[in-house]
Amino acid sequence: MPLSKKQLSALLDQEQYPLSAKYDPDWVIDNEMGPNVLWLTEELCRHMKLEPGMRVLDMGCGRAMSSIFLAKEFGVQVWANDLWISATDNYKRICEAGVEDRVFPIHAEARALPYADKFFDAIVSLDSFHYYGTDVHYLEFYLLKLLKPGGQIGIVSPASPERLPHPLPSYLGDEWYFMNTVEWWRDQWTRNPFIELIHAELFPRGWELWIKWQEFLEASDRRNRPDEVTELEQLRADSGKHLGFVTMVGRRTKSKEPQR
Ligand SMILES: C[S@@+](CC[C@H](N)C(=O)[O-])C[C@H]1O[C@@H](n2cnc3c(N)ncnc32)[C@H](O)[C@@H]1O
Repeated sequence: MPLSKKQLSALLDQEQYPLSAKYDPDWVIDNEMGPNVLWLTEELCRHMKLEPGMRVLDMGCGRAMSSIFLAKEFGVQVWANDLWISATDNYKRICEAGVEDRVFPIHAEARALPYADKFFDAIVSLDSFHYYGTDVHYLEFYLLKLLKPGGQIGIVSPASPERLPHPLPSYLGDEWYFMNTVEWWRDQWTRNPFIELIHAELFPRGWELWIKWQEFLEASDRRNRPDEVTELEQLRADSGKHLGFVTMVGRRTKSKEPQR
């Protein structure tokens, strides 16, 4: 028998993420594109300072759940930028959430962003930055210029506590070849003169939350993606050895202009 909404809500209710627990589990399932983005966003926000009225760019927002969450919980204005999901699709969801005065859907590729230089107070990217942000030049050439000097940038992306062996352990299959370590991510930002690193750590209990998320999807019996049973098996077999997340926050350096 399918679980009731109350039972599903209880599964999503993690003590450390009280803001996320307020959201309708059906809405979260319908719009999910990976491990619960509300948990990822709430965790990231612990390390950032967001104030009402700030302009925030949500890079790779998917179905804009994080953008809606940021607008509702922190009173910020959000430019919900995505590639795979259209602006019209996200606008519908934004209107249904009643935040169309504060969340603006944009369809744009990460290397062709249509924003003015120094427009944003903060940039966030949840489970997305690894698709475009691993190029050592990406921050300097494309993203940091959009931030005000001193503005914040925060990401949560998949990362491994330790270097993945090659070949990968058989239980991981092939798809995790792209995972960088937390140390790799920290180094990318530490050596960048245009960013001052504030925080770069393994996401606390990230792999356990990832398992809880997959168990929640299994219990809901409404898995949206065909690979999810495998992902749960992989996560259980791995027990946090290689599959996890990095949380990183930095500020655009005040004294140096990105060159391009
Ligand atoms: C795994 S989904 C995560 C979506 C959302 N942040 C979430 O957690 O629910 C990754 C997102 O990154 C976006 N993305 C990937 N490559 C991109 C690119 N080159 N430019 C802009 N967005 C990109 C995709 O459109 C996709 O929605």
